[in-house]
Amino acid sequence: MGYFTILTPLTKGFWKSGGAIYLANCFSTSWVAKKWVSVDLIGQTHYAFEQQTAHYGRETIHALADAASYFDADKYVIFDGRADYLPQVFEQQFDAVVSITAFEHMSRLSAVIRQAYKALKPAGILFSYHGPIWSCAVGHHCWVRDDLNFNRPGPLFDFAHLLLRPAEMYKLLSSHYPPDVADEAVEQIYFSERINRLFFEDYEMLMRGSNFCRFTCEAYGAGKVEPDILGKLTCLYPRNRQFHAYGCQIVAFRDK
Ligand SMILES: C[S@@+](CC[C@H](N)C(=O)[O-])C[C@H]1O[C@@H](n2cnc3c(N)ncnc32)[C@H](O)[C@@H]1O
Repeated sequence: MGYFTILTPLTKGFWKSGGAIYLANCFSTSWVAKKWVSVDLIGQTHYAFEQQTAHYGRETIHALADAASYFDADKYVIFDGRADYLPQVFEQQFDAVVSITAFEHMSRLSAVIRQAYKALKPAGILFSYHGPIWSCAVGHHCWVRDDLNFNRPGPLFDFAHLLLRPAEMYKLLSSHYPPDVADEAVEQIYFSERINRLFFEDYEMLMRGSNFCRFTCEAYGAGKVEPDILGKLTCLYPRNRQFHAYGCQIVAFRDK
């Protein structure tokens, strides 16, 4: 996990938003976070107690509304709640806010970035590594069945979610799957709240509009987009160019 190295010299507070990955080993000598506060929408998302969050079943989880009472309860504290609305006890508490593969799932990302800024101490760092899912080739982020999601080759060609309208998508899917499966897939691809459907450029723009004066927003995992597809995409989405990016890394600093 190369991106963690950027934060290795951490010695104080730490907050992770979208905190499903269990990183208790970050208290080891190689990564010296003294405290880790996780804010995750546990109760309301499909991620609750799936494989990546199995540890939640063994942890004490507090409601974010009770943060003032439990903030100092332990050096690893998990709160169930929205990172776009943090209680006052979070203000200027952290050297770093780290978010891994979560920004693309946050519907009110501008508010999350605002809260991250407030939660940081002066000169604190915000780090996010996430997939700008919607603007990349496999933005059809659906979980209807195993052979029909963004990890599997199937009837959904690259950028199908951006090139087809919902009714066209339904037509394509219903030639491969029963109508109820096609219906559910269309619902998840275009309308579910599981992803926010921001394009790569939107993340950049949100950072530009934030209080963070110094930041970088870099595209990663770039795949080549065939010129004819790129032509269609830029015609349909004239304000967007970065359709090749599978990953987006944001590093931002709060002023001293
Ligand atoms: C793909 S998971 C990634 C989780 C974790 N960072 C990881 O890498 O395993 C996305 C996470 O974002 C969380 N999430 C979505 N919207 C959120 C919000 N507004 N506030 C806090 N967490 C949120 C979900 O609960 C989920 O745990």
